[in-house]
Amino acid sequence: MFKSLIKKFKKTDLVINYSKMWKYVKPYWGRALIAMTITIPIGAMDAVIAWALKPYMDVVMVEKGSSYTAYIPLLIIVFTLLQSAFNYIATYLNTWVGQKVSIGLKLDLYKKLLRYNAAFFDQRHSGDILMRFNGDVDASCGGLLANLKLFTTRLFSSISLICVLFYNSWQLAVVAVIVLGAALYPLTTVKRKIKSITTQSVFSGAAINTQYNETYQGNRIISSYNLYDYQAKKFSDNLHTCFKLGIKMIQRTGLLSPMMHFIVSVGIAAVIWFGSHLIVTQVITPGNFVSFIAALIMLYTPIKAIGNNFNSVQMALLAMERVFELMDAQPAITSKKGAPKLEKIKKTIEYKDVCFEYIKGKQVLDHVNLTIKKGETIAFVGNSGGGKTTMVNLLPRFYDVTSGAVMIDGVDIRDYNLDSLRDNISVVFQDNFLFSGTIRDNILLGKENATQEEIDRAVKNACLEEFISSLEKGLDTDIGERGTLLSGGQKQRIAIARAFIKNAPIVILDEATSALDNKSEAVVQQAVDNLMKDRTVFIIAHRLSTVRNADKIVVVNYGKIAEMGTHEELLKKPDSVYASLYKTQLK
Ligand SMILES: Nc1ncnc2c1ncn2[C@@H]1O[C@H](COP(=O)(O)OP(=O)(O)OP(=O)(O)O)[C@@H](O)[C@H]1O
Ligand SMILES: [Mg+2]
Repeated sequence: MFKSLIKKFKKTDLVINYSKMWKYVKPYWGRALIAMTITIPIGAMDAVIAWALKPYMDVVMVEKGSSYTAYIPLLIIVFTLLQSAFNYIATYLNTWVGQKVSIGLKLDLYKKLLRYNAAFFDQRHSGDILMRFNGDVDASCGGLLANLKLFTTRLFSSISLICVLFYNSWQLAVVAVIVLGAALYPLTTVKRKIKSITTQSVFSGAAINTQYNETYQGNRIISSYNLYDYQAKKFSDNLHTCFKLGIKMIQRTGLLSPMMHFIVSVGIAAVIWFGSHLIVTQVITPGNFVSFIAALIMLYTPIKAIGNNFNSVQMALLAMERVFELMDAQPAITSKKGAPKLEKIKKTIEYKDVCFEYIKGKQVLDHVNLTIKKGETIAFVGNSGGGKTTMVNLLPRFYDVTSGAVMIDGVDIRDYNLDSLRDNISVVFQDNFLFSGTIRDNILLGKENATQEEIDRAVKNACLEEFISSLEKGLDTDIGERGTLLSGGQKQRIAIARAFIKNAPIVILDEATSALDNKSEAVVQQAVDNLMKDRTVFIIAHRLSTVRNADKIVVVNYGKIAEMGTHEELLKKPDSVYASLYKTQLK
């Protein structure tokens, strides 16, 4: 019976989450322990003052003895002084440990975030990420530790004051404890009541974050379409959702505190009535009674605070649950245990009967078969939304196939070590992401420890020499967040330089030149041509002039390979989709 109770207790969310939290507290357990134990005297000292009132009343006030008069006031000063000092130490240590724990958690969560696969990011907004990976950690650590200190201080203060109650009169104490228990009972229902609301609050807070982010990133679209009213309305809606949730929360929890207040007042009234009776019947002394009432009134403060704190503690606990939910989630795309490294591609890349869907039931690739030999350049053309990008997304395992397999040298890519697979592939997208920092920082992302000579070669091959030498600070010029200080073609060439320095044997170019005007396209095209030399290349382009030299052109239409061959072969083919595409573009 007892064992099963312990088992049950061990399975509660609270215990599970606290035991997970232990990993992060463990390195600082010494300080954490001091911080916690120090709350015992802080709380208990309240009781000493209440307790001292009994001899003071009985000896000084009633019997007019003078032995206590000298040192009781002194005692009070010394005790409060000690209490203040302990309080300071506890606050300091708690904050210290709390911040350290929060750093540890955030770092681990961030590492987790980095490893999540593309589908995870597809399904979430930037605001959710901020809220759940950053906000929730702050809420759980900060909230928990700050509140925990208050909570434990108050708890020990309550316990010691209850001892004073019993010391003075067990009959009165029993009445008081029953009343306090009744006052605290409603608190046990809080968590259940607020759980769904706090989850909704997190999401509506996240929506607000997302909107700030979109306003930052999309400010030009907002200006050019005059979206001021539209955005403001959307924002106002979000704020109102938050407001409504906040009010709902108060509706469910706001009554708790006044309710406790009322119950406790009834209790005090009952005690005074019963206490007076006990004095008259000489069961207790007047000193007992005064000390008892003082303890009871002092007890009310911590009990009320526990009530007020309880909400925040519960919210912190819920935030902690959300944090560990993320921490326990396993990214869907990872290396198998002990998977061998892919050293270098030797012979072929093969798509074997590949089917793929982003969303269940909506097939994007339909039984695709394709073989590419090492060193070949393969071009994908076809209708927009046909599945070209999806084809190349499968190779670095941004997504995994739904059925079939992508193989390199006859081995399923899911059986290779994931990092080594990606080390073998450079991707240049149409809209390349550059990180804030300098041009050099961004190029070095391709290879952290590249020498100056390697950088120079990459710059030359990416046709960036002229541009960089025109800059006062050259390679060390800051490019702004997301490279906003650069033109489209310049960004593109920095991305190409990054791919050069990575020097991976497989290169994927997804519309790498389509966003550019003719002049810059010629420059970028030269850079792209340099990059394609001696590598296995996947190139996607709408402009067929850029793909005509490919070893193999694959027309991907509506998720299927419609036709395949060299430029000449496809042109000669009767009813060729490629030929008709080519002819319309020539016009
Ligand atoms: N992350 C995603 N989640 C859900 N569906 C997606 C996702 N990315 C693409 N799709 C869908 O998959 C289909 C194929 O998209 P894909 O990007 O492969 O087309 P594409 O051939 O590269 O088109 P384009 O030439 O316009 O770039 C489209 O219908 C698209 O709506
Ligand atoms: Mg595409």
